[in-house]
Amino acid sequence: MSWEDKVRKVEPYVAGEQPKDKGVIKLNTNECPYPPAPGVMTAAQVLRDGYSDLRLYPDMDATMLVNALAEYYQVDPDQIFVGVGSDDVLALCFLTFFTNGTPILFPDITYSFYEVWADLYGISYENPALREDFSIRAEDYLPAVTGKENGGVIIANPNAPTGLEMAPDQIERIVAGNPDSVVIIDEAYVDFGGQTALPLLKKYDNLLVVQTFSKSRAMAGERIGFAIGNKKMISYLKDVKFSFNSYTMNLPSIVMGTESVKDAGYFHATTDKIIATRERFKKGLRELGFVFPDSHTNFVFAGHPDYPAKDLFMALRERRIFVRYFSKPRICDYLRITIGTDYQMDAVLAALREIMGVDRK
Ligand SMILES: Cc1ncc(COP(=O)(O)O)c(C=O)c1O
Repeated sequence: MSWEDKVRKVEPYVAGEQPKDKGVIKLNTNECPYPPAPGVMTAAQVLRDGYSDLRLYPDMDATMLVNALAEYYQVDPDQIFVGVGSDDVLALCFLTFFTNGTPILFPDITYSFYEVWADLYGISYENPALREDFSIRAEDYLPAVTGKENGGVIIANPNAPTGLEMAPDQIERIVAGNPDSVVIIDEAYVDFGGQTALPLLKKYDNLLVVQTFSKSRAMAGERIGFAIGNKKMISYLKDVKFSFNSYTMNLPSIVMGTESVKDAGYFHATTDKIIATRERFKKGLRELGFVFPDSHTNFVFAGHPDYPAKDLFMALRERRIFVRYFSKPRICDYLRITIGTDYQMDAVLAALREIMGVDRK
């Protein structure tokens, strides 16, 4: 057997393109079009003054950041786990909680990294199909209904790339119906008008909520994500993390992330602005005949009955507007368009009008 036969071979996650050309309108990876909170810049200055601290290993518990999050979300610091983006947090969650050999459950259309982590770790999984309208059927995740145990559940709420939100009572049904499994709710997009499952933590010890600084806090480049759950769950997660790499979160991320959390006013002003732009953009899309699930996120997942999504994707790209297209069954008729500034979204609508020849009619 050659060394190559012994290699772990995996199909990696394919992230959205990061064009080198800064002049494009970049609406393909759900980043925030506005800068982070002003205090984050002050933190960068503080770091410059105290740059010799970089000699030292960072605080492996990221205490400053964890305390700021605990205060903001009104939970105990022991209930919080932070990581290098929510991808890091989620990858460690898969490794920690999905271990017993029984298939875990996540929808057939959702964040495509779930499948990649499951394959990487050799976790078996089943993918209940979304309804035709892309909504998630809670019953598919209830052993009492399906007659089948599961090894865990992970649901993105709101879901990606559809943007649809599952109602809090349906999330509670899934959590309550799986007392013997960990249920992870990935709330990467919850800050754009969604409802968080955090209040359920008081009632259920099998729930873990994961969020990120990459979208609503405009800090994708800093790589910060976190999980909130009960203390026992968080301590299991930390044991796995510290068996892997203690110092994942660097000092600048800890300091800048803390400043971001402290500025709640800026956070809400930014998300409110994006929500207003999203609603305005939806109206424009509707007028052009697009159809889309009602997004509660910072993106819209839109298709047009008369224009193949792939053609629109290419035509937008020629006009230096980058959106995301997935060539997968069931979703290949849609484009996922991140909400940028009003100016950027007007440029998208103008480009679509031009491509579709609407102005000429
Ligand atoms: C549903 C969902 N979860 C998690 C992530 C990961 O975000 P990050 O690692 O930047 O925190 C993304 C990113 O697009 C996402 O769409």
